[in-house]
Amino acid sequence: MRSKNTNKWQRTHYCGDLRLKHCGEEVTLCGWVNRQRDMGNLIFLDLRDREGLVQVVISAGKNNLLKTAGSLRMECVLGIRGTVKDRGGKLRNAELPTGDIEVEVEDMKIFNASEVPPFVIADPPQASEELRFKYRYLDLRRPSMQRNIKLRHQAALMVRNFLSENGFYEIETPFLTKSTPEGARDYLVPSRKYKGRFFALPQSPQIFKQLFMISGFDRYFQIVRCFRDEDLRADRQPEFTQIDIEMSFSDREELFSLTESMMAKLFALIGVEVELPFPRFTYAEAMEKYGSDKPDLRFGMEIQDFTETGKLIDSNVIKGALSAGSELKCLILENAGGLSRSKLDKLNRKARDLGGKGVIWVKKDGGFKSSLKLEDKDFELIWKKAKAGDKDLILLVADEKKTALLILGDIRLAVQAAELQKSNKYKFAWVTDFPLFEWSEEEQRLVSVHHPFTSPLAEDIKYLEKEPERARAQAYDLVLNGVEIGGGSIRINDLKLQQQIFKILKLDPEEMEAKFGFFLEALTFGAPPHGGIALGFDRIAMLLAGEKSIRDVIPFPKTTSSLCLLTNSPSSVRKKQLKELGLDIIE
Ligand code: AMO
Repeated sequence: MRSKNTNKWQRTHYCGDLRLKHCGEEVTLCGWVNRQRDMGNLIFLDLRDREGLVQVVISAGKNNLLKTAGSLRMECVLGIRGTVKDRGGKLRNAELPTGDIEVEVEDMKIFNASEVPPFVIADPPQASEELRFKYRYLDLRRPSMQRNIKLRHQAALMVRNFLSENGFYEIETPFLTKSTPEGARDYLVPSRKYKGRFFALPQSPQIFKQLFMISGFDRYFQIVRCFRDEDLRADRQPEFTQIDIEMSFSDREELFSLTESMMAKLFALIGVEVELPFPRFTYAEAMEKYGSDKPDLRFGMEIQDFTETGKLIDSNVIKGALSAGSELKCLILENAGGLSRSKLDKLNRKARDLGGKGVIWVKKDGGFKSSLKLEDKDFELIWKKAKAGDKDLILLVADEKKTALLILGDIRLAVQAAELQKSNKYKFAWVTDFPLFEWSEEEQRLVSVHHPFTSPLAEDIKYLEKEPERARAQAYDLVLNGVEIGGGSIRINDLKLQQQIFKILKLDPEEMEAKFGFFLEALTFGAPPHGGIALGFDRIAMLLAGEKSIRDVIPFPKTTSSLCLLTNSPSSVRKKQLKELGLDIIE
């Protein structure tokens, strides 16, 4: 509830909230001057606050007010009191939500002047991202940024209420802690008291949320900041927010249905009705059909296996590849038979960039044509198996299975990119049963695909000893429109199994004790069966807001090169400070 109005300039309404129903009301508005139009005997101002813009008018005859308004510059902060009026007929502005009305000013107060801003504050932004990030507090005045931050607040509130209603406690976990392995580099914080020792900022609260289960809290959540020193992209920031969830005595089904209901509520915020339940694919199925572990289901175009057909084709290229253990995969591009040579060459280059040998294309353009020398019977064979239409383009890749699938998966997305820009579909999917480990060339050892606390599938525990690469994980990702918006797993709650996993990851007993001794010990004191998930809150907010980068839903983001241009950080520190920490800089 608002406090009692004792201040003459306390706002009665937000600018952006005024509508025809307010006509005749006396209102007090506070905001920033977005635009001023001086018509000589009449001045129009667009006044802007967090809810939007409204036109205010200083009419002829109000000489003192006209004089003040005439001197107003863009972005000065203003209070006005006046009466809401119907603009009527032709004067209505259909592009503005408040466009049916305007406010006739009776009194005005300048709260503060403004320097000329370094860029015009309007959507879409005109200035470079660098300049906007330097003056982010001004960039945040843009109506779309105000809307995005409001939506982010509404989403966070919805999540808190939803999880609380479902029996979850929000509990905080420390930021000054020890490394929590999620596959990125840690941000380290040097200790002043214990020179040469460091805290790590958490990559996620993974270990702590599992400890909460051992503590008996049963159902935990947190909207929490995580820190990862990794290369940035449109959907990655060095500090980002997760909706982190963990529950005991439960199973994957309950977690899936809880997450699905939460997503349905979140997307209802933007008027989208989400189809439940979400389709599920195993990792192997997703790769086979879409060449990706985060399939975009807004369109079909599934990849097909042509390996058996390939064996019947008289081509040395295909035969040679198949006899060396490669597979033949096929993607049909509808109505793309007319694609130009340069575009076809581009597809070929893309395949090579992805580590493949190239793409074979086949089309029916007056007669069969292909980038590969083929007999008529082989054209017929391919065409029949593909069930392609006369105007379609068939792409074939003969390569090592994973490479072939990744190439066609990439092309599948690239050819739809323009269509997807216009799409207003929201297609969720669960991807399950990921491999537990993958080989790291860099580290020359197996590493966890998710994190080392992920339980293997019960039926795959038998592989751990001799063929750990074969083991699949009780892990799952949540995908929306081809973006990974969450990931989680059923955890290991058995000490011996956890130790075995660390051993496969080549952690020697000393390192295991130093890094995770406290956690392994905790597993010996009655660790319940448990599992959970973490959802990327920034990514969800980005998709809710219809933005292309998480930078557009984070108030103070870092640039793609991990800099904060507003505060100019990271920055150097004084020698004295380094000395206190026992540090020295090596040039
Ligand atoms: P994971 O590492 O998959 O799982 O992270 C969960 C989700 O967080 C989001 N995300 C990011 N968002 C923005 N910038 C980043 N740098 C970034 N990194 C990750 C993604 C991702 O799906 N502890 C486990 C969860 C669990 O097992 O419960 C974890 O952190 O949307």
